[in-house]
Amino acid sequence: MINARMQEALNEQIKHELESGYLYLSVAAYFHSEGLDGMARWMRVQAHEEFNHAMKFFDHIKERAGRIELLALTKPKKEWSSPLDAFQDAYHHEQFITSKINALIELAAKEADFAVRPLLHWFVEEQIEEEASTSQVVQMLERIGSSGSGLVMLDRELGKRERE
Ligand code: FEO
Repeated sequence: MINARMQEALNEQIKHELESGYLYLSVAAYFHSEGLDGMARWMRVQAHEEFNHAMKFFDHIKERAGRIELLALTKPKKEWSSPLDAFQDAYHHEQFITSKINALIELAAKEADFAVRPLLHWFVEEQIEEEASTSQVVQMLERIGSSGSGLVMLDRELGKRERE
């Protein structure tokens, strides 16, 4: 059975993952409003991944006979000044999530919770990927600068992203 402190922290992580999805859906809505449907698709796929992340923590608490508690979600930001601004926000958000995973690892060590380790290890690997994928798009957008044709090409490219 899971202990109370770990259960509380994992319930909070469910909220962080759902808020990630909520943020990326909001970014997708912003991209749709700008006519950048490819970037919107990329963010919609990302939002779906975040829901799956939340469910990994949800199922872990369930499997260890804990009590899942869904917390209130914060309203996400609605407007960004440019695609670069939006992807920079996504990158910074992923860094924030990495810090939360690291804090969970520290707590698991303190509480001698060995059962949660494989799950958290999966997230350590996942966060490397999440930070890399968002920072890669930030770099491409920085290179594109104010080139309209570059933006159209990148939008087309990002629109090819499929759900895993
Ligand atoms: Fe679930 Fe993108 O972190």
